[in-house]
Amino acid sequence: MGKIRKAVFPVAGLGTRFLPATKASPKEMLPIVDKPLVQYAAEEAEDAGIDQLVFITGRNKRSIEDHFDKAYELEMELERSDKQQLLESVRTVLPSRVNCIYLRQTEALGLGHAVLCAQPVVGKEPFVVLLADDLIRGNGQGVVEQMMEMYGRYGCSILSVMEVPQDETDKYGIVETRSGPDGELRVVSIVEKPTLADAPSNLAVVGRYLLTSGIFDHLRRTRPGAGGEIQLTDAIAALLAEEPVIAYPFRGKRYDCGSKLGYLEATVEYGLAHPELGASFADYLRRVVH
Ligand code: G1P
Repeated sequence: MGKIRKAVFPVAGLGTRFLPATKASPKEMLPIVDKPLVQYAAEEAEDAGIDQLVFITGRNKRSIEDHFDKAYELEMELERSDKQQLLESVRTVLPSRVNCIYLRQTEALGLGHAVLCAQPVVGKEPFVVLLADDLIRGNGQGVVEQMMEMYGRYGCSILSVMEVPQDETDKYGIVETRSGPDGELRVVSIVEKPTLADAPSNLAVVGRYLLTSGIFDHLRRTRPGAGGEIQLTDAIAALLAEEPVIAYPFRGKRYDCGSKLGYLEATVEYGLAHPELGASFADYLRRVVH
């Protein structure tokens, strides 16, 4: 089984829920405390040994490219004013062993279409997909690394899943599973954003996928589905007829940073956990929250 080296980041969405903040820059550049969402996702992938980051960008790609690029003037300025810690935080945005590749999704045709855009770079290797607006704090181990361990054991596509409230199934891809020989959850069916009545369970796919390259053939054949978009979920449903797919209830906490409330929750919790700000932020919250 080959090593997984590539991570795909679909970042071409319009981010309408955060307008006007996302008018000129992608939602993945929204910061949680002092790092943009996309950097948390990139670090999660890098911690799992990924060394190629493939960004599927749209018309707003500039700030993401700039973020992962070297910033000579800024580094020189920080060096000159002896701001070592800040200099380090800027220099380590991208470890030297990691490369970035940018591909343009010229039309916003959906998540499935965005992933298909990565095929020329991914080729025949298995790969991971991270949706950066799902911020996940792993329990000591990032979710991508956890999924790679599962891949090492089963050698098939893995979907990260969590239970969601019954009345929220229409926000997610929902899986139906059965237990395999080791108690692993084998996906039997998957459906995009079903109503409560149509949902086969309340087990939702969140934004981490480990996929075999078999997905690309199905993506190419997938017609627009829910919301008129080419859905990754529909291609996974087709893949199921050929290959096993496992649902993996990850260890960690997920913040839905695609919604304003989830974004604020992440900001508060990452603020409280921040080594420099945590204590004074906690004091502040005690003063203002009654
Ligand atoms: C996408 C996927 C959906 C998945 C969700 C996780 O939906 O289409 O299957 O459950 O991400 O966040 P979106 O949130 O882009 O509407």
